[in-house]
Amino acid sequence: CGIVGYVGHQQARDVVIEGLRRLEYRGYDSAGIAVIDSGTIASDKRAGKLANLEQALAEHPLPPSSTGIGHTRWATHGAPTDLNAHPHQGQKGRVALVHNGIIENFRPLRAELEAAGHSMLSATDTEIAAHVLETELLRTDDLTLAMQAACRQLEGAFTLVAVDAEDPSRVVAARRNSPLVVGLGEGENFLGSDVAAFIEHTREALELGQDQVVTITADGVEVTDFDGNAAEGKRYHVDWDLSAAKKDGFDWFMRKEIFEQPRAVGDALLGRHSGDGQLQLDELRLSEHDLRQVDKIVIIGCGTANYAGLVAKYAIEHWTRIPCEVELAHEFRYRDPILTSNTLVVAISQSGETADTLMAVRYARLQKAKVLAICNTNGSTIPRESDAVIYTHAGPEIGVASTKGFLTQLVACYVLGLYLAQVRATKFGDEIAAVVHELEKMPAHVQQVLDGAEAVYALARKHAGTRSVLFLGRHAGFPVALEGALKLKELAYIHAEGFAAGELKHGPIALIEEGLPVFCVMPPQGRDQLHDKMVSAIQEIRARGAHTLVLVEEGDDDVDDYADEIIRLPVVPTLLQPILATVPLQLFACELATVMGHDVDQPRNLAKSVTVE
Ligand code: G6P
Repeated sequence: CGIVGYVGHQQARDVVIEGLRRLEYRGYDSAGIAVIDSGTIASDKRAGKLANLEQALAEHPLPPSSTGIGHTRWATHGAPTDLNAHPHQGQKGRVALVHNGIIENFRPLRAELEAAGHSMLSATDTEIAAHVLETELLRTDDLTLAMQAACRQLEGAFTLVAVDAEDPSRVVAARRNSPLVVGLGEGENFLGSDVAAFIEHTREALELGQDQVVTITADGVEVTDFDGNAAEGKRYHVDWDLSAAKKDGFDWFMRKEIFEQPRAVGDALLGRHSGDGQLQLDELRLSEHDLRQVDKIVIIGCGTANYAGLVAKYAIEHWTRIPCEVELAHEFRYRDPILTSNTLVVAISQSGETADTLMAVRYARLQKAKVLAICNTNGSTIPRESDAVIYTHAGPEIGVASTKGFLTQLVACYVLGLYLAQVRATKFGDEIAAVVHELEKMPAHVQQVLDGAEAVYALARKHAGTRSVLFLGRHAGFPVALEGALKLKELAYIHAEGFAAGELKHGPIALIEEGLPVFCVMPPQGRDQLHDKMVSAIQEIRARGAHTLVLVEEGDDDVDDYADEIIRLPVVPTLLQPILATVPLQLFACELATVMGHDVDQPRNLAKSVTVE
């Protein structure tokens, strides 16, 4: 969910709605706003996208006010309806509250409140929190004290932001396990789930720790823990380019972000290699000694990040000879994994806020494993709670389906693998410089693939009516197939599945029927056996009626006779091919969904960062 809070000299309703617009990618099944209006709360909330709320507000504007909060929701408890949308109010309508996360003990709290005569309007855990907060407010007559007391009663993960109808001078917020940052202005202050909420107004931000309560007024910010002891946030400067939060003439953020990939891949490498092919990772907080001790690597992540991990396994094991497992973060801690202080857990997360991944990180650290985060969002929770971090430097990713996030995760994983090989002086050592030089060429290669976008778009338009698409790959091309299928599911809502081509004959070949589009990622010619086996697989499915769309490197004409459509890729080493092979699949999904009339940036039921488990 996206959360905004504001107090200051501007119109709160405008600042809040603007902030919500920038945060809408975090959740968009309902939206709401509340401002304080001479001793009462004026509020509106609507199911559906933010536009619904904006339309309602155009017809019935909220009163002018210095103080307001807003929310854009990704439903957990209760369906996305007007009633369940945030803000929620207490029994007497004195507090309004927005929330991100899950209050785990809401059932006993609800029973207690109902026994005391409270009645709830919605099916949400948030309304319970609003009632608890208001009860404390009536007791203390001080929203900050009330918030501290309420938080001591709540279990689970939450960011809460609240206003008191009788005190327009402040907005009070709390965080436990869910994201919240403060924006520091002049004569005004802001709260947001992330800096996008206020980046137009200020670039000075304050990062909060766990279990902290923050009170903002027009002229000040005060941080405490849940017991009221003074605490401190960490001040930082946001160096995002504001244009990153604009579409720059593209129809979708996603398409813009696909086209930013040459730059993003370059930035992910920047400062991490020297001209002579040596890797340098000065930012890593793990010593070379620590890295030499590592005897097992476990990569965790969800969704696209998990697929980046699957590619990384091929590369890291090959270069370092350290056994490397890849696991979905939400499965990891429930199966009693074997971890020691010599295990390096690599947590991949674009947002740095995915709750499943965060919980896995905490679990790994409790087991004394070392945790290295690969993350795109500075100051987010996962890197902060890890022993070390490699930032991917993709710049803000707004489209819900990850694109430049994925490519830069791949680069970070390659850099990590090569660096480990360098530090541990593996037998692969001599080849490091050669791979680094190949990596340096990647931005130009990605650009070359993008230059062919029109041809891919034409394919997407041609297949717009299809009900199902399969994706086949082998070796490092297998996760590419998975990622290609995920993009299509996320954006076009059609059945799409990725397979390891070798698995085809063990089941999936039964799915092949006349005209079924099948993307095939051809291994580079250098991989003799794999290459030839893939050629056979393509022949087999073609013979059964599949319409084959083959991604193959330039100069390889072995599949020409069996390919219905060919997409050419620059020649690169096998392990690096995923950086290039993924790009046409992104373009295909983006265009197909566009043709089908879907909202590419905000696909149904999804959210960019899922901050609940
Ligand atoms: C959500 C998004 C996916 C993303 C996954 C992991 O499910 O919809 O696109 O891959 O979270 O996100 P993270 O921020 O941890 O990389």
